[in-house]
Amino acid sequence: MTRTIIGLSGNLDRPSKTRTLVQTVVATAASEFHATGTIYDLTDFGPSLGAARRVADLDAPARAALDVILSADALVVGSPVYKGSYTGLFKHLIDLIDPLALADKPVLLTATGGGDRHALVIEHQLRPLFGFFEARTLPTGIYAADRDFTGGQPTAPALLDRLGRAVGQLAPYFDRRTLPEVFLLGA
Ligand SMILES: Cc1cc2nc3c(=O)[nH]c(=O)nc-3n(C[C@H](O)[C@H](O)[C@H](O)COP(=O)(O)O)c2cc1C
Repeated sequence: MTRTIIGLSGNLDRPSKTRTLVQTVVATAASEFHATGTIYDLTDFGPSLGAARRVADLDAPARAALDVILSADALVVGSPVYKGSYTGLFKHLIDLIDPLALADKPVLLTATGGGDRHALVIEHQLRPLFGFFEARTLPTGIYAADRDFTGGQPTAPALLDRLGRAVGQLAPYFDRRTLPEVFLLGA
């Protein structure tokens, strides 16, 4: 069965640097691990997201998007920095998720901000959030500032190096699953 690497970007506007960064990471990882990649951002969840108090309140397309995210083999998550943290609507979406739904899920964390002041948003905000879910956040997070983009695309060499390193950390999850079952049983 084809494995899936799904991107979830917490941007409110399009075009979005965060969405583009998440898309680049998903495309790189999907190509490296022969997986299918899909991206969602908050616009894809439509107007029912803001009013929803539980998953059942989401409309059908939003519920379908959430189902795809929760069933992913790996997630690439990103948010623009707003006031030193992830966006409020992104957190609202995360608040709808069952506490057990992301346990053991590999999650690659990304964020974008105007400059370097909040570069630790990944370590101080996103990693604890996914720690709550007992997800397997990858050691390397990818933070990008405005100057790391050219024409809306991530272009800074140091950023792309880091991106490659972070994607490489998905290997244990994907390599292991591609081994024959008999090998996994230790025969
Ligand atoms: C309401 C708002 C608050 C922001 N707060 C911060 C901030 O605290 N720190 C920062 O570095 N950038 C901040 N920014 C800049 C954005 O994080 C940055 O431009 C980001 O890359 C935008 O991502 P997007 O293109 O995906 O929307 C803020 C932007 C907005 C609109």
